[in-house]
Amino acid sequence: MRRRRHYRLGVPSPTAIDLRSLWSLDASVNFLNHGSYGACPRAVLALQASLREEMEREPVDFLSARLPARLNAAREALAGFLGADPSDLVFVSNATAGVNAVLRSLAFGPGDELLVTTHTYAACRKSVNFVAARTGASVVAADLPFPVASDEQLIEAVLARVSPRTRLALLDHVTSPTALVLPLARLVDELQARGVDVLVDGAHAPGMVPIGLSALGAAYYTGNAHKWLCAPKGAAFLHVRRDRQDDLHPTVISHGYRAGFHAEFDWTGTCDPTPWLCIAEALRFVGSLLPGGWPEVMATNRALALRARTLLMQLLAIEAPCPEAMIGSMASLPLPALDTDALHDWFRARGVETWVHPHPIPVIRVSAQLYNSFDQFQQLARLLGESLHGR
Ligand SMILES: Cc1ncc(COP(=O)(O)O)c(C=O)c1O
Repeated sequence: MRRRRHYRLGVPSPTAIDLRSLWSLDASVNFLNHGSYGACPRAVLALQASLREEMEREPVDFLSARLPARLNAAREALAGFLGADPSDLVFVSNATAGVNAVLRSLAFGPGDELLVTTHTYAACRKSVNFVAARTGASVVAADLPFPVASDEQLIEAVLARVSPRTRLALLDHVTSPTALVLPLARLVDELQARGVDVLVDGAHAPGMVPIGLSALGAAYYTGNAHKWLCAPKGAAFLHVRRDRQDDLHPTVISHGYRAGFHAEFDWTGTCDPTPWLCIAEALRFVGSLLPGGWPEVMATNRALALRARTLLMQLLAIEAPCPEAMIGSMASLPLPALDTDALHDWFRARGVETWVHPHPIPVIRVSAQLYNSFDQFQQLARLLGESLHGR
């Protein structure tokens, strides 16, 4: 039997391999922004390269004959990880595509309200604006506080903007600018009990926090596998509750139209399906890096994000902007009023990749992934101090 090898950062042992070497990241960059686009380990990219070779050796055999069974196997592996039934799950290229498929399948009209929040990811907010403009619906934004003290504050802020005209709520599972893990189960229950279907944008959630899609019961949930699951870019999914599948279509209509939920999404024109076919390997590979598997991966990343947050809070002389329970593997901290683009450029010029953003208030967001170590955040803190205080 092959022995599984586990890797630990900073623990010197004859078998320990620096986790960083398992990713292709540029060693000269202090990379603290897994959150934006993810990063895929070399081993998973190697599988993708071999699948692409295979596809180009006999494209018809690969795409017409072999693909359906492979997609089903990929779907089963992902469904197992997400606590979902594979029949409710389809692949899309990114969470934005999942959000668009839902928004553009549903029929809205004048008087209908589409509920978003002030922390909704900007691109998806634009999709909502587009659909509202075409249909005459209006967009209502719940003002989420940040800093925030409790789940109740978030839930109250959302429910306060529900009206008898609210047709759909778009909620981020983990908010992009503020990195808050929202109290999703409670929000979904409260909204759906009021007759408001919820579309969850879980772009960051898979691989960051445990997910049970069947139990959650949201009408729609889309998420990325190319962020925290570390699959190749272009790997994402859409989960649709069974009673909502008939009216749901991909944004691109193709051969599978009206042939069933899977058939419609499995083929939306010729594309490279290899990111989807690598999801199972990403799950296996990353989950094998620590003895406790994915629960330990998530806990390790979270612990590092929390340490980094404490360090930056001390530097900025601020209180925690949210309870620890709202932290996954990213943390955002409010900054004093400043030019966030200039600060971002300042970091990049010094070899640090992190995320700085002006909305809803100026924030710096750090990401913690297995390849990161605390000293990288110490360098970030030193530079932030220099830029803010001229130290
Ligand atoms: C909440 C949220 N939604 C959607 C996206 C977009 O993800 P993608 O570009 O993979 O569609 C992001 C990206 O960071 C995000 O944070």
